Amino acid sequence: MVRGMSISGGSDEVLFQKKKGCYVTRVKGVILGTVAVVAVVAVALIVHFTGEESTALGGVADANIGERPTTTTTTEAPAPKEKRDVRLPATLAPRAYDVRLRPNMYDGPPEEFHFNGSVTIEIECIEATRNITLHANKLNITNGSVVVTGGDVAFESFELDTELQFLIVNLTKETVPGEIYNLSMDFVGPLEDGLDGLYLSSYKQGSDTIYVTTTQFQPTDARKAFPCFDEPAIKATFRITLERKTDQKALSNMPIHNHEPLEADWVADHFEETAKMSTYLLALGPDRTHSYRAWARPDAREQTLYGLHVGVEVLTHFEEFFNISYPLPKQDMIALPDFGAGAMENWGLITYRETAMLYDPEESSEGNKQRVAVVVAHEVAHQWFGNLVTPSWWDDLWLNEGFASYLEYSGVVHVEKDWGMWEQYIVDDLHSALSFDGLVASHPLFVPVADPAEISSVFDSISYLKGSSVIRMARFFLGDDTFRKGLSNYLKSLEYGAATHNDLWYAWGNQSVADSKDRTDVKKIMDTWVLQMNYPVVTVTSHIGKLHVKQKRFLIDPDAVDPGIYNSTYGYMWEIPFTYTHEDELNFTASRINWFGNESAVIFIEYSFQEISDGNLPDPSDKWILANVRQYGYYRVNYDDHNWRELIRQLDNNHTVIPTENRAQIVNDAWNLARAGELNMSIALDTTKYLKDERNYVPWDAALSQLGFVDTMLQRNGLNGDFSKYMLRLVEDYFSELTMDNTNATHLESYRRSQISSTACDYGVASCVEEAKALYRAWMNATDSKNPINPGVRFTVYCTAIRHGGQAEWDFAYEQHRNSNVAGELSRLRGAMACSRQTWILSRYLERTIQPEEIRKQDAVGTITTIAANPVGRPLAWDFIRAKWEYLNREYGQGSFSFANLISGTTSSFNTEYELKQLADFKDDHPDLGSGARAFDRAIERTKSNIKWMEKNVPPIRDWLANYFSTT
Ligand SMILES: *[C@@H]1O[C@H](CO)[C@@H](O)[C@H](O)[C@H]1NC(C)=O
Ligand SMILES: *[C@@H]1O[C@H](CO)[C@@H](O)[C@H](O)[C@H]1NC(C)=O
Ligand SMILES: *[C@@H]1O[C@H](CO)[C@@H](O)[C@H](O)[C@H]1NC(C)=O
Ligand SMILES: [Zn+2]
Repeated sequence: MVRGMSISGGSDEVLFQKKKGCYVTRVKGVILGTVAVVAVVAVALIVHFTGEESTALGGVADANIGERPTTTTTTEAPAPKEKRDVRLPATLAPRAYDVRLRPNMYDGPPEEFHFNGSVTIEIECIEATRNITLHANKLNITNGSVVVTGGDVAFESFELDTELQFLIVNLTKETVPGEIYNLSMDFVGPLEDGLDGLYLSSYKQGSDTIYVTTTQFQPTDARKAFPCFDEPAIKATFRITLERKTDQKALSNMPIHNHEPLEADWVADHFEETAKMSTYLLALGPDRTHSYRAWARPDAREQTLYGLHVGVEVLTHFEEFFNISYPLPKQDMIALPDFGAGAMENWGLITYRETAMLYDPEESSEGNKQRVAVVVAHEVAHQWFGNLVTPSWWDDLWLNEGFASYLEYSGVVHVEKDWGMWEQYIVDDLHSALSFDGLVASHPLFVPVADPAEISSVFDSISYLKGSSVIRMARFFLGDDTFRKGLSNYLKSLEYGAATHNDLWYAWGNQSVADSKDRTDVKKIMDTWVLQMNYPVVTVTSHIGKLHVKQKRFLIDPDAVDPGIYNSTYGYMWEIPFTYTHEDELNFTASRINWFGNESAVIFIEYSFQEISDGNLPDPSDKWILANVRQYGYYRVNYDDHNWRELIRQLDNNHTVIPTENRAQIVNDAWNLARAGELNMSIALDTTKYLKDERNYVPWDAALSQLGFVDTMLQRNGLNGDFSKYMLRLVEDYFSELTMDNTNATHLESYRRSQISSTACDYGVASCVEEAKALYRAWMNATDSKNPINPGVRFTVYCTAIRHGGQAEWDFAYEQHRNSNVAGELSRLRGAMACSRQTWILSRYLERTIQPEEIRKQDAVGTITTIAANPVGRPLAWDFIRAKWEYLNREYGQGSFSFANLISGTTSSFNTEYELKQLADFKDDHPDLGSGARAFDRAIERTKSNIKWMEKNVPPIRDWLANYFSTT
């Protein structure tokens, strides 16, 4: 899935989502949804959007399905220790489900909405047992409805274990291995707006409230919709039936097989059985076409066209890339008004937040557009990675999310060739991963998890971004062909089954042998990156004719105490595919890999003939060396001060000699090394001086995230004035070149303008502030209610006008927020409203974040953390979440991935002992933090490191700024 994000590319995007108006009791059409499940994966939905769908037919590449190996190498996931075993016994295996659901959204007020269901499960006995144990959560099983047939076994009794979310059905006799049994029962469950399981969403149409029933099952909530064996590796086929009123529509993973008229105005839609067997796939002809449809609120139907276009293109691209055709007969995409995550890859029926799927050419920015393309590509990639081949257990979740996060770039590049996606990758994925993974509170990619809260907590930056970064590194050292063929073999050999990371090493290893690669011990290499947390910093020193390289574990806070939850069996040493070039060579193709896996190594520099034509090796003393070319490797690089100064000289004289990725890397590494105390702060600051000449989005992005950190730390410090003046110097000329006129800008121009105008206005470049205020005023005064501001600069304009304005500006934005129909615009408005500097306005805004009729539930967390990013809002937001903790936890904490974001977002700028104590006290007072516990540990660690940062860095920054202003 894609997590709910609060920020994304194009600095104008503070993306959160939208929320909407209150409900009126009159209920009109409905949408229902429900689902299917392939364990984790599939879901079905019902929907009714009274509007029609856009339809597109995607041609399918003729896929050569090939022969399927019969072996699977699935390994057992480790049993969790100390706790009760949350895994189902392996005595029984479900083969097929028949699920029938009737969401009832008619009788009584929404609080009483519920669904009725029945399920029949065909089960094969693997080992004799006296009970059938499966999952159920929050379901009331109807008395007398449980029936077991098969052999001479019958139903005896059942009980629910609410802690393990087990339904245990006792039998009269033992089952016999190899025999098939049928278990059936009826049940009732609540239909609430909880964003997981089978849940209720709604939107307004005129004064009517339209309800939609939909699903979100990943990772462990299918069991809230019907009793099932809810583990990712337990696959089966599903036949779904959804009962609905005749004026509604229903969607599920598969196409509708037939309609069955029921009483009065009810009808049952029977869906075709979902895939599982290989023969089923092979039965599909190679020249079929399948349909790809998009769904949204009727008012937003036009906005689905771009996402649909990307979906169709990317699906075809991945079929070619994997050489495996998309196995289902159809694909639907649906934008839901209420959705907890960013999107969910249900097989054949992908669900999205509106901001992740809808694009309006008039109202959306290029940032919104890229977000749609990226999320659509991510979910389509999951149709193979995750749906066709599923991790055996949640401990290998990164196989799903790392691959989808990596392949989304490949998908977008296929559709949008000039967006510079792989350059953006460096800051968006790689640098974010390195940042998160530099803490002792990180975890290995492969991580034991047991209960649902732990499972939810691994949907984090490690699984997504480190996962993707390590895959990018593998692609680099394997080469494109070996990488792709290995993946294709892995998918083909395990399709409809489950896998662990070892299956992937095996496939890549074999392919490396077939392709005669230098190194074929893929497992030996990759295990060091996947089974231990963190990553190395490689220190490079150059001597005449050779480099000395050393590796050691990098921690952003070297004094942090490792809690010892995860031990490394590799002694924090990694198998590093080291690359370098130097000033006389300028070879940025990274064609030469020097592997090293020990603590240190000596590498003999390759010089070209011309360089040594006088018979002497060049003296490195006045030339730079640059390591980790294009930053393909998942590690940082440090040098001696001399080499750093040579690199800075190059940036200052002619930065374009060094490729974009490495310019971003130099800045990012220098700043992080300085934070860790391994590099002088003045050198880190020196890497930013050249920015006044930098015109590429990516290095600026890398620098702004570091300078933004300094800004956050200095918010309440006397140095803030000089620091702002420095920022203003860097940006003012660049801003006057760009201005805010974004008419006819290309994608990347628009990104640059968003980035630079927002920086310029933030640091008070007068022409920027004036232009923003004037544009906003023009909008407030517009008589035709049409917004005259270009979407690419809207966020900056709104935020600046609200920051420098008062209640009139804020209330105008709020009014626009009530009326807008475009999710991206709503998200910008919510972000901009957090820019106010008035305490009472921000307090009022905070109160509204948890009134679902004001701010949609899915947007609450994003809005609160945005308010916390404002120095005036920070203490307000922190007081607010502590005061409302019980309520937030109850209403927003259940299985919600964004809860960890709430904690980290609200506390990330903490940098005083007083704040540290507040965090620690709060944790002590709340022993049961559930999925928030890890986030709290990280917050505490981060705060400690921020405190040290202040002690250590304020003096050198003061000196550096003084020196800068006296010499320039
Ligand atoms: C159900 O059966 C399994 C395997 O036969 C056994 O391990 C488990 O203890 C049983 N559960 C209960 C509640 O009796
Ligand atoms: C099911 O069987 C187990 C093991 O014999 C027993 O402990 C449990 O009480 C039974 N449950 C019910 C509801 O009878
Ligand atoms: C399930 O049973 C409980 C206890 O009897 C009851 O309070 C609840 O309303 C029931 N839920 C549904 C959806 O009927
Ligand atoms: Zn995903």
